[in-house]
Amino acid sequence: MAKHDMHGNKSRALAAFFAALILTTNASAQDRQIEQKVDALLKQMTLEEKVGQLHQLSGRDLTGPANNRNTNILAEIRKGKIGSMLNVRGVAETREVQAAALQSRLKIPLLFSLDVIHGYKTIFPIPLAEAASWDLPAIEQSAQVAAKEAAASGIHWTFAPMVDISRDPRWGRVMEGAGEDTYLGSQIARARVLGFQGKKLGGTDAVMATAKHFAAYGAAIAGRDYNAVDMSEHQLWEIYLPPFKAAVDAGVATFMNSFNTLNGIPATGSAYLQRDILKGVWKYQGFIVSDWASIAEMVKHGYAADISDAAQKAINAGSDMDMEGFAYSSSLVQLVKSGKVKTALLDDAVRRILYKKFELGLFDDPYRFSDAKREQDALNDPSHRLIARDVARKSLVLLKNDKQTLPLNKAVKSIAVIGPLANARRDLEGGWIVKSDAAQVVSLLDGIRSHVAKDTEVIFSPGCDVACTTTDGFAAAMAAADKADTVLLVLGESWDMSGEAKSRTDLGLPGLQTQLFEAVRLKGKPVTVVIMAGRPLVFNTVADQATAVLYTWFAGSEGGNAIADVLFGDYNPSGKLPMTFPRSVGQIPISYDTYETGRPVQDVKNVVYKSAYIDTPNTPRYAFGHGLSYTDFSYSNLSFSHKNMQPGSTVTVSFDLRNTGKRDGEEVVQLYLRDPVASIVRPVKQLKGFHKIKLVAGEQKRVSFTIDQAMLSFYDSKLTWIAEPGKFIIMLGSASDDIRLSGELQLLDKQK
Ligand code: GLC
Repeated sequence: MAKHDMHGNKSRALAAFFAALILTTNASAQDRQIEQKVDALLKQMTLEEKVGQLHQLSGRDLTGPANNRNTNILAEIRKGKIGSMLNVRGVAETREVQAAALQSRLKIPLLFSLDVIHGYKTIFPIPLAEAASWDLPAIEQSAQVAAKEAAASGIHWTFAPMVDISRDPRWGRVMEGAGEDTYLGSQIARARVLGFQGKKLGGTDAVMATAKHFAAYGAAIAGRDYNAVDMSEHQLWEIYLPPFKAAVDAGVATFMNSFNTLNGIPATGSAYLQRDILKGVWKYQGFIVSDWASIAEMVKHGYAADISDAAQKAINAGSDMDMEGFAYSSSLVQLVKSGKVKTALLDDAVRRILYKKFELGLFDDPYRFSDAKREQDALNDPSHRLIARDVARKSLVLLKNDKQTLPLNKAVKSIAVIGPLANARRDLEGGWIVKSDAAQVVSLLDGIRSHVAKDTEVIFSPGCDVACTTTDGFAAAMAAADKADTVLLVLGESWDMSGEAKSRTDLGLPGLQTQLFEAVRLKGKPVTVVIMAGRPLVFNTVADQATAVLYTWFAGSEGGNAIADVLFGDYNPSGKLPMTFPRSVGQIPISYDTYETGRPVQDVKNVVYKSAYIDTPNTPRYAFGHGLSYTDFSYSNLSFSHKNMQPGSTVTVSFDLRNTGKRDGEEVVQLYLRDPVASIVRPVKQLKGFHKIKLVAGEQKRVSFTIDQAMLSFYDSKLTWIAEPGKFIIMLGSASDDIRLSGELQLLDKQK
């Protein structure tokens, strides 16, 4: 990637020019046709109508009984002063509100948007759980179903996928993302965009997607939501930007900026992010919506003197649409009239938004997404729950399974199901749900009851609630454990302990849950612990003393069935952790791709003076990529197509993978790479590829990866994307801390 002039105004003007140029030159015939329509419409628009297109509001009582309708918003819509609404949903409601837009002078239809993050009516596992499946087709299908249900309900645009990389489980929004790794996060970003948008925008079973939150929101200082972000440009380009670029390459229709400052500049006011990088270097042709009032919040940040100053800074920096900030609606007309904002910049923003409305076919038929029959069919399609169950099973991670405790025997005489989340329904949906009905969620208790033999006794005892502030229920729980042959303990967070504005400084199991575990374990029965959470938690006592631990995140509408499928062996668990699980909050930020340092902990010379803690090992509780199976896999016979790699060429790395156990299963084989000596130090390993491979018991397959120059490349100290000649270590493993095979290849200097 070429070097960037990070700050010069020259680059900004050039970027804006090229962006506009790209909009006109790269277009296909259909694109050119749309552009002509956009230009024709733009010519008719007043300044007020143009600003109206940049104004987005959240729906509040727009329909329903006439006496408590928000008539102001409907009046504004009729005057063409609002371009998009969020949180208006359902065919009836969207038709009614769209009708108001069609009473405006130019009849420009509204865009209806919603946070369809992991399902609309059918709720899928939270995104971090889906990431644990490492199953890109399954992740894409999940987004497809969500889009189909939402689009059938009048929604044009979802504010997903969230593609923020994060190495800090204190930050509650890790539940919405794909974890800590840039490569995995980029692959998942692409899968989700394709799932939501389909092959081409405009289908009524697909919605516009949004790559958010641009950018580096997941690196908030101290893991505290909305906090400042401060990092080197090297970190930004190497770790946090690639998933956004993957979304651009997948054709993502829109971007959402982020609440945080990046190196002192609010993202929504950052021309570097929005014009230089996104619309300039990346040639992005969609539009950027602010994150809720992030434009107006620049006043609180201390970056804008007042809301007009905020509006000026935001539009000049490339923020196209103002969500709920009232900055553009209150100030932009005056700013353009006074010359403080160039009409050309305003027109560029309006053009980008109108382009999408034409692309969705809304000018041809503003109601095309609001079809009562399609809504009825989509929201009652039984196949959606089956897909949700399948995705959920693939997302569960078996962390521990001593003495082959799992799978459980369905014909067990009696099983005690204990814990505050055993009969939970709403919690299994996790955060960010919009339309579902918790009563339709399959609880784990439901799932167990439907899996065990008819004469198996299932004894349920909650022990305590999720907060677990009292031991009042412990005696009953211990009595249940006493009576049963085996014990299942269901612990973890409630759904609203993770998500937006849900940062935690203590990642332990809430309240006295650990004590509940210890009390039950005293009964001496094998104890399987199921943990439900929206993030990595710290549970060392349980991890040390439970015989088996299954991490289920929040597994969605079919969670109870999916978890029971794994517990009783109807599905062999295949999930792998997309985030490192720390032993202690004190280790955070923590990730697998660490640097060696000059005094590595394994350095025998420096017995004392080494990079380590005096109270905790450096290693995590569970590593990135960790996840057990009910079977075993062997890796052998590693070979390279050739050991010396010409610049620009590729090398094929192959090995034999065998299912050496008695059960069919799926293995996520992970390819890691290290550049041991380079012009800037490189991580001890970085994920560069993976395959999820299904093998029946005893089956062997030859597995291959193609190593290309991009895999060997990194941003050097001048931010030049480069692969430096020399040795590279290639590693194949079942987890970042479970490398089974490794070898070296040499990147040659030049054509030799
Ligand atoms: C929220 C979130 C963002 C969401 C938006 C609209 O504050 O940060 O992810 O899409 O507002 O609900």
